[in-house]
Amino acid sequence: MKKGILFLFWTVFIILIAIQFVPTKHENPASDANLDFLVQNQAPIEIQEIVRNACYDCHSNTTAHPWYSYVAPISFVIAEHVEEGRGNLNFSEWGHYNPEDYSAILKQIKKEIQQEAMPLPSYVWMHKEAKMTSERKILIINWLDQIIAQSSATNEN
Ligand code: HEC
Repeated sequence: MKKGILFLFWTVFIILIAIQFVPTKHENPASDANLDFLVQNQAPIEIQEIVRNACYDCHSNTTAHPWYSYVAPISFVIAEHVEEGRGNLNFSEWGHYNPEDYSAILKQIKKEIQQEAMPLPSYVWMHKEAKMTSERKILIINWLDQIIAQSSATNEN
């Protein structure tokens, strides 16, 4: 019995060591700051802070890479979130998106925030500053409504 537990312990230990050698991506692709979502939409400072804290680690090219993002298996989960997040929506690439799509993307962003689907709960658990308090939520939704109205007006021209 005791031998069995010891064997299990070493097996888990060796697997944990071995997976540290599996490479994971920690890249922040270079991008033109002028294409950034917050810059292009001239977001007020308090809005910039909320969106950067709540969304930019997964949805931009300016991801922060804390020490635990280098420790497997957490690193696998984080790398997956960043890859999928950027694939769905990359705020650093806003200027490259088709302006005809802006209104639809903005509405999707608003919906994700309202339904509390974004930021991902597991992320908020580790990042208190990303928490969508009711105050932050009101600020961000009001601002989104403003730029949705603007982008719809522009598209009608
Ligand atoms: C921890 C990483 C992470 C954070 C933080 C995060 N997202 Fe996401 N986001 C994802 C991932 C992964 C997906 C794709 C899978 C999914 O839809 O759950 C996604 C998908 C999305 C989508 C597309 C949804 C769809 O169904 O097409 C939108 C819009 C979005 N996120 C907006 C936001 C906004 C706005 C914030 C900040 C308030 C945010 N996200 C914060 C990881 C994140």
